[in-house]
Amino acid sequence: MWINCVQRLSPHAAYGGHKQSGIAVDHTLERLLEYANIRTIVNRLRDRPLMNSVANWMHAPDSLLRLPEGTVHIWRAPLDVPAASLVRLIALLNSEESLRADRFVQERDRHHFIVCRAVLRLLLGRYLERSSSTVHLQTQQFGKTVLAVDLGIPLHFNLSHSHGLAIYAFCFGHELGVDLEWLRPEIATEEIANRFFSIRERQELASLPRSARVEGFFNAWTRKESYVKAHGKGLQIPLDSFDVTLAPDQPVILRSFDSDRWRIYSFTPAENFTAALTVGAGEWKLDFYEAESFLK
Ligand SMILES: CC(C)(COP(=O)(O)OP(=O)(O)OC[C@H]1O[C@@H](n2cnc3c(N)ncnc32)[C@H](O)[C@@H]1OP(=O)(O)O)[C@@H](O)C(=O)NCCC(=O)NCCS
Repeated sequence: MWINCVQRLSPHAAYGGHKQSGIAVDHTLERLLEYANIRTIVNRLRDRPLMNSVANWMHAPDSLLRLPEGTVHIWRAPLDVPAASLVRLIALLNSEESLRADRFVQERDRHHFIVCRAVLRLLLGRYLERSSSTVHLQTQQFGKTVLAVDLGIPLHFNLSHSHGLAIYAFCFGHELGVDLEWLRPEIATEEIANRFFSIRERQELASLPRSARVEGFFNAWTRKESYVKAHGKGLQIPLDSFDVTLAPDQPVILRSFDSDRWRIYSFTPAENFTAALTVGAGEWKLDFYEAESFLK
């Protein structure tokens, strides 16, 4: 089924209510600026309409997580948790993850990393029917976190965090990528768009009414990020080597040399956030779950 408009979720709770910038966004920007000299490569571009999603966030089932083929489970988790919960969650990390947590300068960033990784482990443990501490993870060459051991289970996942909120996506049988951003008007400038978006994206952004430009900017940003994360190559993929459409409430279209392999969905995880999922081409059912109960 094709849905021609993105319906925005009315979230029950607002996340990341602090004024301070989210670390994920800040780090992304630093990398963006380092990446100013992106090369232009010529790719075969093909138009392909993609489907947007409508999100209804459900409570986590008590039992085993059943993930049918053709379904993507998307979870959201607030990363600011009470101290008592944090103590319990730290215990789920392995020694390498604990060391990584300790390298954060800011205590808040350390806490966010711990919660984000612990929730990932809890979710993986339930999908794989094993204790979360026995889930072995590894980091690929360009930073993508994946299951380390081939269990014969083609479970794929990806995650993103911004401004005190994390989202996770899981599916069987196909790579995927997710990206989450807190909408910050001061980032959504023409200057940044000119440096990092394709010509076509810049033109589409400029054609939007002013009131729609912040949303349009972050639609493009999250869709592009989710695409490069699905590939697992990060900025090895030149950002101007593919296009996404960005107008709010319009179908998502990816134009890339491999656009027949992928489908992009946009959704709103909470007020003032936007997110995108890139997953294999085909019909996918998206189920949205709250991970908050894991944090108590
Ligand atoms: C690292 C990158 C994957 C995203 O960075 P980010 O937005 O700061 O981080 P997010 O919160 O979205 O995602 C982080 C998670 O993605 C995963 N990840 C890291 N590198 C990845 C990669 N190359 N591919 C897929 N997933 C990756 C990891 O699990 C990571 O979580 P962890 O650090 O807790 O293990 C990469 O795309 C990047 O550096 N982008 C820079 C900015 C950019 O190009 N923006 C384009 C806007 S048009």
